[in-house]
Amino acid sequence: MKPFLITTPIYYVNDVPHVGHAYTTIAADTLARFWRARERDVFLLTGTDEHGAKIEEAARKKNSDPKAFVDERAAAFRGAWDRLGIQYDGFIRTTDPKHKAVVQKVLQQLFDKGLIQKGVYDGLYCVACEQYKTPGDLVNGLCPDHKRKPEVMKEETYLFLLSRFQDRLINVITSGELSIEPLERRNEMLGFLTSQKLQDISISRARVKWGVPFPFDPSHTTYVWVDAFFNYLTGIGWEGDPKKLPGQWPADLHLVGKDILRVHATIWPALLTALDIPLPKKIFAHGYFTIAGVKMSKSLGNALDPINLSDEFSNDALRFYLLSEIPFGQDGDVSVEGLKKRYTSDLANGLGNLLSRTEMMIEKFCGGLIPDKVSPHDALLDVDKLIENLQFHEAVKRIWKAVGWANLYIDENKPWALAKAGEQKKINTVLSGVASQVIEIAKKLSPIMPETSQKILARITAEKITRGEPLFPRLRPA
Ligand code: MSP
Repeated sequence: MKPFLITTPIYYVNDVPHVGHAYTTIAADTLARFWRARERDVFLLTGTDEHGAKIEEAARKKNSDPKAFVDERAAAFRGAWDRLGIQYDGFIRTTDPKHKAVVQKVLQQLFDKGLIQKGVYDGLYCVACEQYKTPGDLVNGLCPDHKRKPEVMKEETYLFLLSRFQDRLINVITSGELSIEPLERRNEMLGFLTSQKLQDISISRARVKWGVPFPFDPSHTTYVWVDAFFNYLTGIGWEGDPKKLPGQWPADLHLVGKDILRVHATIWPALLTALDIPLPKKIFAHGYFTIAGVKMSKSLGNALDPINLSDEFSNDALRFYLLSEIPFGQDGDVSVEGLKKRYTSDLANGLGNLLSRTEMMIEKFCGGLIPDKVSPHDALLDVDKLIENLQFHEAVKRIWKAVGWANLYIDENKPWALAKAGEQKKINTVLSGVASQVIEIAKKLSPIMPETSQKILARITAEKITRGEPLFPRLRPA
């Protein structure tokens, strides 16, 4: 079977990694772990997007040479993913000479096919997004994501003839050849594509120095999105020949935030079509993390640092919170307060307590041995399907239903009272049920909270069970 290729966006290095970036990466890692556990060969690709006006400007502000600046920032992203335990198989940087060479090859091919032509671009552009805007995109004249006024761009440039691909784009989305999820987002994309004539887009910049030089006109650099998209192919080793594609292609899933869905659903499939390369199978767009209703970003100054949160709460607690606080696909507020609450109620008092009382009772009443294995609770049956469908939030809900059920089952059956009454057989039945449930919970949890899952399994399947350290130590009062 073809390896399962999952990609994250490549992150702009003008920002330092924040919880918004960690969100996409953790979701991708969860899916990758899920498939690996099912013996599918998986390739998880991530990386950094290092060219363009925005990064040029960020380096200038730091009085830094762009190359030194991007080297440092790319290392920060990589370091963050390592620190958060992300198991990526490829990390692509767009400043990698091999990547740049492929971008140039591709531009030449498109030029030779007549799909890149010199012309005048006249339209709106938001540098913070590095994306073209239509008047309909703006809210009170501003880019809704960055709260800034887009610039009017009118210049001589190289155009990619995107308009030629309009019907094809509508067709591939309608037929499902290119699946876009969630459904509302797919409809939004079709709405966009069917309500107006697509404009040809400018894909070169005479004013930006920090970029891949145009092969047939080195006075221009490449529009950063055209450069960036090809990471999905260079990141798996593609050398630029459309007839020789790496075995992982087509991507099974491009995971993106909704801010970058439109470019992924228009420019990218158009470029691939232009080169006769098969399209990715699916693009899934998740929502935004907001802080008090405002999109989290460094430029807005409200970003949470995932490393700080992991230091304070652990990697798994962060994963748990990010994946379950908001249904994947929707927007929602996150906060340190919110994480603290869920940590205490669901992790320390919920799962942590379940493990510790289970161990304690098996130690005390059953000599440290699980009496029998029984079948787990129904709540867990759908978990795999839910994760497969990226419904992480619902999957966690089911698992915690089982946690709640097991805790309640203990409360109702009171093994300590049974012990006083000398009812060993009944104790054995109860604790077998609980222990089996804990094992199942840990197994289902493994893609979402890998470290916790391993810890629980090691402890509950030990030769002799004894009460161990708390899984989730209580938080110190602030
Ligand atoms: N470099 C482009 C992507 C190129 S992919 C060929 C880019 N980079 S980005 O760093 O600005 O953002 C990338 C992704 O980070 C977003 O699509 C989204 O997945 C994630 N997020 C950034 N901020 C976020 C939130 N506040 N909330 C949720 N996800 C966020 O766009």
